[in-house]
Amino acid sequence: MSNSGEAELLHTFKGIPFTTRSSPELLKSLDTFDAREDDVLLVSYPKSGTHWLAGVITKLYNTQVTITSPIEFGDISQLEELNKLSSKRIIPTHLDYNMLPPNFKNKKCKMIYISRNPKDTAVSMFHYYRDNPNLPTVDSWTAFFDLFLKGKVVCGSWFDHFLSWEEHEDEKNILFLFYEDMKKDLPKVVKDITLFLSLNVSDGDIQDICEKSSFSEMKNDTEKENSDPTHTVCALTSNRKLIFRKGAVGDWKNYFTPKQNIRFQEIFDEKMKLSKM
Ligand code: A3P
Repeated sequence: MSNSGEAELLHTFKGIPFTTRSSPELLKSLDTFDAREDDVLLVSYPKSGTHWLAGVITKLYNTQVTITSPIEFGDISQLEELNKLSSKRIIPTHLDYNMLPPNFKNKKCKMIYISRNPKDTAVSMFHYYRDNPNLPTVDSWTAFFDLFLKGKVVCGSWFDHFLSWEEHEDEKNILFLFYEDMKKDLPKVVKDITLFLSLNVSDGDIQDICEKSSFSEMKNDTEKENSDPTHTVCALTSNRKLIFRKGAVGDWKNYFTPKQNIRFQEIFDEKMKLSKM
């Protein structure tokens, strides 16, 4: 990674790298954010299937909902902008649990955390780094692999992020989802989401929503003229075309060398020893 690129595009807040699209002033003022009881948070480490989940969730409501930009994205005016929006707000975020505005916790807002095999997440993020001008340049997969394992990538360590949220897995207002489960049986996951959000959606409508949320449908939607290319639920880009790459499980096998796989596994086992995953 080039130093000048890194210096211009990233900064560190509370030990976590953020892009300069999240201003330090905004990050400092997050604690003052006034959540509403009916806010729904859509939480993820980058490249875990956030857009997929957001696409599904918006289709489940038959009332007006607004998917906002990520809470940590923008300058100091962001919180004011979010305050102006009428309910119901679906608010995406890549924040670690410890950085979440306390009001969301006190008001027991519903939060959905989506996670993905960190090996596939790493590969997806590598491509994102390469294609996204808002992120520093990486020279090779090998270089990126090292940065990812050290947590020296945007949003920090995958392990710390996951563990910070997993600690709260049993709280009734938090639903944990896995990308791989969505790939395996999307209607089942969507049913679980409707129960969690107390939404009454028929099995037929769930089936229909799942068909419209397939990788190919969602990718095609971004190509259509009427889709808004500047609206993303990711704090790292405003270009929807960068989001839909391959949409597969197990792509890591095409990138990890056997040695990298062993190293990853050792670190995974060590960091996740207290995890239920
Ligand atoms: P890949 O880069 O492995 O293809 P996020 O939305 O959190 O940025 O995650 C992006 C990842 O989710 C990308 O992974 C993208 O292709 C995948 N994705 C997006 N929509 C999807 C869908 N409908 N089905 C499966 N995967 C999807």
